Amino acid sequence: MALVTSTEMFKKAYEGGYAIGAFNVNNMEIVQGITEAAKEVNAPLILQVSAGARKYANHTYLMKLVEAAIIETNLPICLHLDHGDTFELCKSCIDGGFTSVMIDGSHHSFEENIELTKKVVEYAHPRGVVVEAELGRLAGIEDAVNVSDADAAYTNPAEVEEFVTKTGVDSLAIAIGTSHGAFKFKPGQKPQLRFDILEEVEKRLPKFPIVLHGASSVIPEFVEMINSNGGKMPDAIGIPEDMLRKAASMAVCKINIDSDLRLAMTGSIRKYFAENPSHFDPRQYLKPAREAIKGLVKNKIVNVLGCDGKA
Ligand code: G3H
Ligand code: 13P
Ligand code: ZN
Repeated sequence: MALVTSTEMFKKAYEGGYAIGAFNVNNMEIVQGITEAAKEVNAPLILQVSAGARKYANHTYLMKLVEAAIIETNLPICLHLDHGDTFELCKSCIDGGFTSVMIDGSHHSFEENIELTKKVVEYAHPRGVVVEAELGRLAGIEDAVNVSDADAAYTNPAEVEEFVTKTGVDSLAIAIGTSHGAFKFKPGQKPQLRFDILEEVEKRLPKFPIVLHGASSVIPEFVEMINSNGGKMPDAIGIPEDMLRKAASMAVCKINIDSDLRLAMTGSIRKYFAENPSHFDPRQYLKPAREAIKGLVKNKIVNVLGCDGKA
């Protein structure tokens, strides 16, 4: 099995009313935890690399880790650039063997977003690579993505047909109230997503794969594990799983998850150190971290995304 694009995955996911998990990877233990889980439940996978991950781990190391995961699991895996912000970054990932890239022009004007996305599509398609773009702006702060609540904007469904037609893009990320990071709603605020926008987009773009970013559930078990072992993440809150299931049953074919992996890894390592203050072998504390990632990904695939058995 070689790396695949997401084209076939999305077609089947749309028809089957489920979604593919797109998990962010930064190191070996994360790649192993995710892919071992997917192997056990026979799920297709998208592994995605942000600009920050590429800077941290290096393109070649990440490429080779993912290639190793394919050899070990024999699963269909799509390797995707997450939040590419320039043509040059997308080009470098396409030339370097990725099968999918995101060009995130959501911080530009509508016209500039179209122009930049079209340029990436024209480079990617002849090389067999698919492209995701974004309309609307999600709130949240991570390494390379930093949008304040005031700058966030829901996707305007009236713009999607023109955007997709003019750019030729393969999938579209939309903003319906999810956000990046571990603090998605204010304390006391009732989590809500604008399913009316998703429905309207679905009507205007029949059978077209939609992507949900900022879709971690911020699993309370791991937040509690962090907070009870010296961490300080009060009021961390994510997207309820039933909302993700609903989105997956609609036009959403790709659900992005990063924060949940970070919380699982950090919680496990904090707990390990609290319980074993004299240990210093990284293999000892990275092993439970990898197991925690594996458990969470397996649960996500089976109970939220619904893509188990679909590889
Ligand atoms: O949406 C962004 C991803 O979670 C990647 O975050 O830029 O901190 O690697 P990062
Ligand atoms: P979370 O921060 O909710 O995990 O979102 C990740 C994401 O959208 C990556 O592109
Ligand atoms: Zn994102």
